[in-house]
Parts: sequence; structure tokens; C-alpha cells
Amino acid sequence: MVELSLPANSKVTEGKTHKAPDGATNIRTFKVYRYHPDDGNNPRIDSYEVDMDQCGPMVLDALIKIKSEIDSTLTFRRSCREGVCGSCSMNIDGANTLACTKAVSDVSGDVKIYPLPHMPVIKDLVPDLSIPYAQYTSIKPWLQSDTPPPANSERRQSIEEREKLDGLWECILCFCCQTSCPSYWWNGDRYLGPAILLQAYRFLADSRDEYAGERLDELDDPFRLYRCHTIMNCTNTCPKSLNPGQAIGQIKEMLAKRR
Ligand code: SF4
Ligand code: SF4
Ligand code: FES
Repeated sequence: MVELSLPANSKVTEGKTHKAPDGATNIRTFKVYRYHPDDGNNPRIDSYEVDMDQCGPMVLDALIKIKSEIDSTLTFRRSCREGVCGSCSMNIDGANTLACTKAVSDVSGDVKIYPLPHMPVIKDLVPDLSIPYAQYTSIKPWLQSDTPPPANSERRQSIEEREKLDGLWECILCFCCQTSCPSYWWNGDRYLGPAILLQAYRFLADSRDEYAGERLDELDDPFRLYRCHTIMNCTNTCPKSLNPGQAIGQIKEMLAKRR
């Protein structure tokens, strides 16, 4: 996994240590980034000692236990707890991943937890994703067709046409790839980034969509698409084992073919 830099906002200081209960023998320490926008303080790292004999196996289990039983002020996103909603993405042990599918036993030593890197932080482990969501809207992530659907039927695809969407439809928009991409760190206001470009390719690859030309016109831009320099952090970090770097390459190929 690629080691990522930490949030760029900071003099991060050591915070409080919350000790494990007396008698606990299977203790893991979680070092968690804390930031409150309204308290006027620099971010800090709080340490939480958790009795793993009383806790589920995943990092998200530990965070939920910390919030429920040790420190209710800790803030993070989560929903499904099974790797399908994309809410619990964060930086764990130096890599962007999903807290609900990352086993504590996969981390040696203290478990270091930060928000997704290079994004503004709303509070603690919650990044502000307004820009990537606005970028997502900009690619029109819905099927566009001027041909009416067949009477009394859905729009059909052959098995081969449907297979072209495999490796694309599984994206859960967790933004682990987006926030691991150096090009996105430096040009995130103008470069669409790997998550959005994978989504853009998902519609370019769909046999039912009739707006490929317009979609390619929108993407054909030195910043929106061509800031990708094939560094491949995105593909290395995707917790769903998708390949945004390859999807970006396929968009570039489509553009090259029509020149
Ligand atoms: S391959 Fe492109 S999108 Fe992926 S990390 Fe590298 S520059 Fe970013
Ligand atoms: S491609 Fe992977 S890392 Fe990127 S948003 Fe989709 S699921 Fe998350
Ligand atoms: S809580 Fe839904 S992906 Fe982790």
C-alpha cells in the first residue's frame, strides 16, 4: 500500500489518552485525529485503549465502541458496515480504505486513524466532500438517450455489452482513490480525479447511452482529464479492487481514436 501524507492543515499535537478498563488483557491502542472547527485549537491525536476481547474485529467496530462507551464526542461517518455505502472511508495505518472492511489484526502496532488526506476537515474524521460531489454532478451520471425505450420493455443489453460495465458499476464513491491521487491534491479544483473519471467512463461504456460524443467533448480538457499522470495510487488503494487508472486510460484512448 502507498503511504500517504497526512492532512495538510497542521501542527498536530498529542491529546488525551483514554486508558483501557482494569483487567483488560487484549488491548489495542487507537490513535485518532481530532479536530473541532469551533474550539480554536490545533488538531490533536487522542489515544484510546480498547479491550479487543469486548470489541468486534474491524476498525469501524473499534470506532463505534469508542464513541459508544469511551468518548461520545468522536465524529465519523458510517452506515452499512459491510463495504457497500462508501461512508466510512478514512486513512488507516497510512492508506485510504474502508474502516468497516479493515481488520484491526491487519495493522501492527498502534492503529493510526486520520481523515481522507488533502481534503478540508469538517470535524474529526469527516472530510468535506462538496467538491468531489459537485464534480460528480458535472459528468451527468445518468443514462442519456434520445431514442425512446421499446414499448412495454426495458432497454436491453447483450451479455457482452453488460460485461463492459463490470469493474465500473461496483464503485461506491468512497473517494479513497480520489484523495490518494497527487494530481488531485494539487489541482483538485480543476482535475476531476480518478473516482469521477471512473464514473464518467462507466457511462461512456454503457451501450444504452447515446451521448458519448458530448461526454468526450466535456472531458477533453488539459485539466479535467489530462492531469492524470498514471501514478496509479488510485488503483493501489481502491478497497473494492477497481482500477480507476485503467478507466482513465480508456477515456484517453477513446479521445485519441476520434482525433
Ligand atoms: S493514475 Fe491518474 S488518477 Fe490515478 S493516482 Fe495517478 S494521476 Fe491520479
Ligand atoms: S474507484 Fe474504488 S476507491 Fe475510487 S471511489 Fe470507487 S470504490 Fe472508492
Ligand atoms: S460503513 Fe458502509 S462502506 Fe463502511
